[in-house]
Amino acid sequence: MLRIEVITIFPELFEAFRRTGVLGGAIERGLLSLTAHDLRRFTKDRHRTVDDIPYGGGPGMVMKPEPFVEAIEALAGPKGPGRRARVLLMTPQGRPFDGARARALAREEHLVLVCGRYEGVDQRVSELAVDEEISIGDYVLSGGEVAAMAVVEAVSRFVPGVLGNPDSTLRESFESDRLEGPHYTRPVEYRGLSVPEVLRSGDHARIARWRSERGLERTRSRRPDLLTEGEER
Ligand code: 6GU
Repeated sequence: MLRIEVITIFPELFEAFRRTGVLGGAIERGLLSLTAHDLRRFTKDRHRTVDDIPYGGGPGMVMKPEPFVEAIEALAGPKGPGRRARVLLMTPQGRPFDGARARALAREEHLVLVCGRYEGVDQRVSELAVDEEISIGDYVLSGGEVAAMAVVEAVSRFVPGVLGNPDSTLRESFESDRLEGPHYTRPVEYRGLSVPEVLRSGDHARIARWRSERGLERTRSRRPDLLTEGEER
């Protein structure tokens, strides 16, 4: 079973998250576990201080190294070849996260996701205790928690048994390097807009071709970077 642990100053953010939807069901069925740990538990001073002013000056605060390093070592053990957990620091400075990374992480037995705040985490946390820094996109979030949730959801979908239909992950966006086309359900006409006739035709080959074409069209207009030179398929 994949164990996922999160280190955060806001563990309460994960309470509803871990009980809800596909992920909640998977946790309930014992396919994976998700535990959020309060970083402040790993402080030693009376005020449970987790940040301090930056060396060199500048705006904002920097997160102190000791609580993070001690929390990570308590959960994952010391960094190095004997460690069975993979420790990820959530940061806009990280390597871009994608579906391939999610698929690979789903094969680990133990993940520890470390949530900092955007002003930053003392560099020594990364050097002493983190295996990998990851970013979920080119924008800045005020903390790593929402990014950690995105990683948890993306990874959990690759854990065997989490999705009802095992090939729904293959067909989806980014698993085929192609965006999906539009989806429709009832009613057949809504505010003057009709469901395309082909989807009601019962001709499965034609439906598959139509979906593939609409996906390719959408990819060309919104994400041409996904297509290789001259791609038609
Ligand atoms: Cl992983 N963390 C934060 N704080 N901001 C981000 C991010 C992560 N990825 C994109 N922006």
